[in-house]
Amino acid sequence: MSTLKVPGIAYGGDYNPEQWPEEVWAEDVRLMREAGVTMVSVNIFAWALLEPREGEYDFSRLDRILALLHENGIAADLATPTAAPPAWFFRAHPDALPVDRDGRGLSYGSRQTFCPSSPAYREAALRITGELAARYADHPAVVMWHIHNEYGCHNAECYCDESAAAFRRWLRVKYDDLAALNAAWGTTFWSQWYYDWDEIIPPRATGAVPNPTHQLDWRRFCSDELLSLYKAEREVLREAAPSVPATTNFMVMYNFDALDYWRWAPELDIVSNDHYLQSADPESEIDIALSGDLVRSLAGGRPWLLMEHSTGAVNWQPVNRAKNAGELRRNALAHVARGADGIAYFQWRAAKAGAEQWHSAMLPHAGTDSQIWRDVVALGADLKALAEVRGSTGTAKVAIVWDWNAWWSVELASQPSGEVRFQDLVRSWYEPLWRAGVAVDFVRPDADLSAYRLVLAPSLYLVDDEAAANLTRFAESGGTLAVGFHSGAVDENCHVRLGGYPGAFRKALGVRTDELFPLLPGESVGLSEGGTAGLWSERVHLAGAEAITSYTSGPLTEVPAVTRHPHGTGTTWYVATLPDPTTLAALLDRMCTEAGVEPVRVTPEGVEAALRRGADADYLFLINHGDRDAEIEVSCDGAELLTGNRVEGGTVTVPAGDVVVVREPRG
Ligand code: GAL
Repeated sequence: MSTLKVPGIAYGGDYNPEQWPEEVWAEDVRLMREAGVTMVSVNIFAWALLEPREGEYDFSRLDRILALLHENGIAADLATPTAAPPAWFFRAHPDALPVDRDGRGLSYGSRQTFCPSSPAYREAALRITGELAARYADHPAVVMWHIHNEYGCHNAECYCDESAAAFRRWLRVKYDDLAALNAAWGTTFWSQWYYDWDEIIPPRATGAVPNPTHQLDWRRFCSDELLSLYKAEREVLREAAPSVPATTNFMVMYNFDALDYWRWAPELDIVSNDHYLQSADPESEIDIALSGDLVRSLAGGRPWLLMEHSTGAVNWQPVNRAKNAGELRRNALAHVARGADGIAYFQWRAAKAGAEQWHSAMLPHAGTDSQIWRDVVALGADLKALAEVRGSTGTAKVAIVWDWNAWWSVELASQPSGEVRFQDLVRSWYEPLWRAGVAVDFVRPDADLSAYRLVLAPSLYLVDDEAAANLTRFAESGGTLAVGFHSGAVDENCHVRLGGYPGAFRKALGVRTDELFPLLPGESVGLSEGGTAGLWSERVHLAGAEAITSYTSGPLTEVPAVTRHPHGTGTTWYVATLPDPTTLAALLDRMCTEAGVEPVRVTPEGVEAALRRGADADYLFLINHGDRDAEIEVSCDGAELLTGNRVEGGTVTVPAGDVVVVREPRG
């Protein structure tokens, strides 16, 4: 993993000077310096200007942009412009346009309008990447390659014939022979047996439910196909500039599920992420924390970069809300609290024209006499004051299992309930931990779990034997493992594990379910220890476990809803329903207590606490999302980094809506 050659916490955004006359650029860099900007991402959508005709290049504008940035001490994260091929490319290669699931050919006219499997696209993308690499490999402004932009944002799946052929090639590598594929996909069902590789097509729109394993392999293929494009560009860049790290901006945020980032992350020299708030989420600070914890985990615990977020409203939701007073600062520093060593926005200057003219920016339409600009300048000073936090990492003893295969498969059609949403379930378990100030990492199901005391698998519908054994071994050897309903149900091919649910975890959990009783939307049932449950229930029989709470109403009255079981030298829990938030919080609190997990800090409601561990100090981030000042205990005398004040006497005040970062020296 490389480090970024930018001091302290990097600060900046996407800079698209090609949208503006050159006279504006001087003002741009002057204002960047005023705001403390240290790095900007350039060239992301500039392909049409760089290569006006196939094979004809004009780098003069980019030369001037990079020179100007360098003269002003601003580093460049230089993008390959391959997310937006020019119109001439599609006129010459109409076959490179994507086709959707319904067979509808899509047009150019926006961005990412290419088929990921198109040989013409790959060739053109690698050619422009090669030109850039050759020209700028040694440019003093360039500190990082920003490969493409948000792979899969608009074209994660293409159903054209070229994609079909690529899918078949991918399947041949995976299965080697057709008999293995037929067995894995269970193709005796509905007469889907394949006799020839050429019979296999993408899961295009069809009258009834497509084969689940076919769909799952398709999702895996689509993620891998884009990954191979990323790797191809990275190889070109690496060859020309081996010491310049490469990244591509992930989209670890609500509702984006196209890419299996566990497979992607090891291919990035520095992990970076984009995160946008959902206007409809009243507690989006929890989504920021969850996403930050997941990105840090993808980066193997190392610091990462927030490549994009917004200073205010976005333009792509039904209603786009501006941020409330203080929210810009709280949001940005919350990402730092979760391990970000760089904070950047989309984009530097708000666009006057184009599809994103109503998207906020660091320099808004209103200009510098605006709240956003004042906040942007103040944030620059904050990040400067946090320079020493750089490189520090997390301290979690709790891990939540996160798996894209489990996500994809549990949301396939024709499940026992179409209401089960992987991300919502994970968030419902994450939320009480966030409120309690408990630090969390995310792990793959087959991860080394030895650093943790409590491992939670809120939703792990699909799990292979090895990963299931890894999780249960963790409990056997003294850990506490809690598993959510409908987990362990199927193997890696989506085949049901027979003999009762929750298949792979039955023995370790000491339970056996013979039938599922998902609840209807809005339906809830009572629980014997208080509270209610919704979404799901199942007829759990105890096979060694004790019932912690049982149903008091509905079809499963008196049946256990949550169970606990000693397993080896550890403990396992089965949460066979979705308890209401208060009840779930109490359960998680008990699990933490029994497992010896302490919160980072006990805080009043609305005050978020997160800790970054440095070489000889801990950095305690306290973010007050509420409207009342809060007094929080600190573990020793230290310094408040944002104000420079001493912290003495065992507590620190976090004013309403404010952020405090305390350096707590260790030892
Ligand atoms: C991201 C994208 C940016 C910009 C932004 C707007 O998905 O990378 O280019 O479109 O969204 O929120």
